[in-house]
Amino acid sequence: MKSTNRLAYESSEIADAVAYESIANEYYDEKLHPTCADFRQASSIYLTRFFGENNPRGRLADIGCGRSLIADFREQGLVLIDASSEMLLQNPSSREKRLADVERDPIGYSEFDWIFAILGDPYNTRATWANIGRALKAGGRCLFIVPSYEWATRFRTRSSEEKPNLACFINARGESIFLPSLIFEQKDQEKMISDAGLTPVETEHVLVGDLAHVKSPKIFKVLSRDQYLLDTYHVKKTQ
Ligand SMILES: C[S@@+](CC[C@H](N)C(=O)[O-])C[C@H]1O[C@@H](n2cnc3c(N)ncnc32)[C@H](O)[C@@H]1O
Repeated sequence: MKSTNRLAYESSEIADAVAYESIANEYYDEKLHPTCADFRQASSIYLTRFFGENNPRGRLADIGCGRSLIADFREQGLVLIDASSEMLLQNPSSREKRLADVERDPIGYSEFDWIFAILGDPYNTRATWANIGRALKAGGRCLFIVPSYEWATRFRTRSSEEKPNLACFINARGESIFLPSLIFEQKDQEKMISDAGLTPVETEHVLVGDLAHVKSPKIFKVLSRDQYLLDTYHVKKTQ
């Protein structure tokens, strides 16, 4: 793991992107990682409404795809992109896949009508947003979902074992693994988006109460049902 004195949003080099490799095989185990499961469930609830209202079509990318949630909504024209080969392997072999670090590697040039980043906090940096801007067609859109700023600030300042800009995973062997998690206040996130030449269309939230059942004490001990669990940024490339 590397350390940096730079502003967090300039780089997520606080840990390597491939660090997800170390927990890829257990990331979707709900008993080991109930917080991830709750955030995934909340993302799925939001995506159901979003796909119903926006009907995304054409060429789609799911960046930092893990076990792609977007594939549950649209398979046609979908490209799955992740820096972790273990994460990419969690998807059927028939899907189009690219092994790429979205902060460092090109992900396309005016190629995509839609780019989705579901729980994109590990790579929520200026470099990634510039890359998204290059990869979208003119008029293309991006939906970027992160755990809420409200949750991140409350939770990460609450425990001495938590660190700012990092998510702590306790793995199956009981070891603490810290991975990048860059979550910003809405005005700072929207500025990062605008600085990349993109236009925020709509910022929305999923509430804790939108989940029928919250599994993770890291969530239900920190937030009440009327507080934000996810922040979602719907963004457009105007030219
Ligand atoms: C929090 S997980 C979310 C996975 C998936 N989108 C989901 O909702 O289940 C973050 C994912 O981003 C990937 N990732 C982290 N940093 C990355 C980077 N710089 N470039 C591409 N993928 C990255 C990880 O390998 C992991 O699959």
